[in-house]
Amino acid sequence: MPVATIEWVNGKVRIIDQTKLPHKLERVEIKNVRSMWHAIKKLKIRGAPAIGVAGAFGMILGTRDSKAKSYKEFKKNLDRTAGYLGSSRPTAVNLFWALKRIERCAEEHSFLPVPEIKAALIKEAFKMMKEDRDVCRRMASLGDKLVKKGERILTHCNAGGLATVDYGTALGVLFKANERGKNIKVFVDETRPLLQGARLTTWELLKEKIDVTLICDNMAAFLMKKGEIDKIFVGADRIAGNGDVANKIGTYNLAVLARYHKIPLYVVAPISTFDLTLSSGKDIPIEQRDGREVRTVMGKKVAPDNVKVYNPAFDITPASLVAAIITEKGIFRPPYSKVIKKAMIR
Ligand code: MRU
Repeated sequence: MPVATIEWVNGKVRIIDQTKLPHKLERVEIKNVRSMWHAIKKLKIRGAPAIGVAGAFGMILGTRDSKAKSYKEFKKNLDRTAGYLGSSRPTAVNLFWALKRIERCAEEHSFLPVPEIKAALIKEAFKMMKEDRDVCRRMASLGDKLVKKGERILTHCNAGGLATVDYGTALGVLFKANERGKNIKVFVDETRPLLQGARLTTWELLKEKIDVTLICDNMAAFLMKKGEIDKIFVGADRIAGNGDVANKIGTYNLAVLARYHKIPLYVVAPISTFDLTLSSGKDIPIEQRDGREVRTVMGKKVAPDNVKVYNPAFDITPASLVAAIITEKGIFRPPYSKVIKKAMIR
């Protein structure tokens, strides 16, 4: 059963607090834009598509008490709120896509009185939520065609229901393959430093009764060498115009290993994850996070307090290492530039 990662209940946003999983399935209410900013920053809600929808509802929370009498005044509130929410995490482009979409919706309704513009924004956020559900299921059906019976699949981080509204991108494909009785086996990288693989992905796969094995990040090469991985499926936080992919730190390691061992690496991502303003991955902003995340494991110190730390949250996998990108508009194969451009203008 899909998990409802984010909901709108009685004028408040309700999310699963992902920092508490897998030990506690706790839902928290987000009543204002500041709490939404913190929820995104602290990874209570995370994963590119989920952050997008959170951003859309954050815009509602941040502007609903506006006393603006005209669209022009209201737009100032919208711009301020979008700037604030956009400062939470820089890499997942779905956040910026969602903030812009809400701003565009307001502009399209700018001839209406402000209360009616506000109502249109809520409708738009709901529409985005529904689209995410549909798009993930469509990508799952397409991606499933790439999975054969009994295959052993490796995934990294969490690209499941928890990273979207309720179903997932890369894990959506695995859910679909499982539903179709393909008897797959999934290996999950723990995904240091914040362990999204160990905490979230294993939880989601076990819930669906999928055969899952957790490994430390440094074990993937050995498994590949032994011929125990057939395919890799991962999500994405931003894909540049040439097909370079930003995803959770460690994805690039896997991609290099996969090429060496002749294992295809597939990226599953909706069109909202593409950023045509960037021609290559080198311009994708990479979030640098607090060193304490590396010096600790689940809050327990594992390194000296004063050791220097490098903690980028994402890396860039060059398009040349990606076997295909599965989107709701089809499976893209290299060379990517043309096909991405065509899909975006359609
Ligand atoms: O830092 P996170 O947990 O938000 O990173 C998430 C990822 O890297 C996911 O793989 C990505 O957002 C794709 S999710 C469908």
